[in-house]
Amino acid sequence: PRVAVLMGGASTEREVSLSSGHSCSAALRDAGYEVTEVDAGPDLARVLADLSPDAVFNALHGRWGEDGCVQGLLEWLRIPYTHSGVLASALAMDKARAKEVFAAAGLPVTRSVLATPAEVRARHLLPPPYVVKPNAEGSSVGVYIVHEDANGPPQLAADMPQTLMVETYVPGRELTVTVMGDRVLAVTDILSDGWYDYDAKYRPGGSRHIVPADLPAEITEACHDIALRAHRALGCRGISRSDLRWDESRGLAGLILLETNTQPGMTPTSLSPEQAAHCGYSFPEFCAWLVEDASC
Ligand code: DAL
Ligand code: MG
Repeated sequence: PRVAVLMGGASTEREVSLSSGHSCSAALRDAGYEVTEVDAGPDLARVLADLSPDAVFNALHGRWGEDGCVQGLLEWLRIPYTHSGVLASALAMDKARAKEVFAAAGLPVTRSVLATPAEVRARHLLPPPYVVKPNAEGSSVGVYIVHEDANGPPQLAADMPQTLMVETYVPGRELTVTVMGDRVLAVTDILSDGWYDYDAKYRPGGSRHIVPADLPAEITEACHDIALRAHRALGCRGISRSDLRWDESRGLAGLILLETNTQPGMTPTSLSPEQAAHCGYSFPEFCAWLVEDASC
């Protein structure tokens, strides 16, 4: 079968996507697919119509590639594609809307408000400590942590998007859980020196991943349950990766769902491929499973 691997694009996560895309392309060739690598530009519709592949492997991250836009184009072109469809992608990418869905499904989320950069700069919109982040981006691009003893509101960069989420900071361990179809792969405990920022995510050795995480059984079970219910509540397809925090001092009540990623990273330092390997799937097998799961 002929697979087009979409990567790059114009989002802030372009470089991450190129890394995911090259890794997945190599893996799919190993698995026996005929692969064309496509850097998604403004001519994408024409390129795909000309290529007419049997399936598209979506290795895009962020705006346009993870938010339902490219999924809509692929529906229009009737080309089967990997990962989530239009609605789940759009919902998951909008952190505030995803939270509303999670809360309605009874999943634990933390308090947040939406604001513009001007509002965030003017005053504390929540009592510190809190986090400020773009409402619809990934990889920790443009994330600010405002500590308890902060002098004032954060001096945000000039190029921040207009819709920001201000969210109560949840202390504790950084956990992540991948769902693959109707099963949970594993919980990973992420250890980094500071917080798990862009550098810690993608610099080799930038963080340590313990998989499976060494947690009390009831916490592991709750993480599995939350990730699976989040995946289903959004209507995800293929794989998703839910990021959680656990404040150990609060036991089960200290577990919070931060967000669900419909296009989890597939780079050499990424978490989902590691969890798949833990469950016995080689990286080519993991990528091939996604292709076989593709639909439109
Ligand atoms: N946004 C990055 C790619 C992730 O969630 O893995
Ligand atoms: Mg994310």
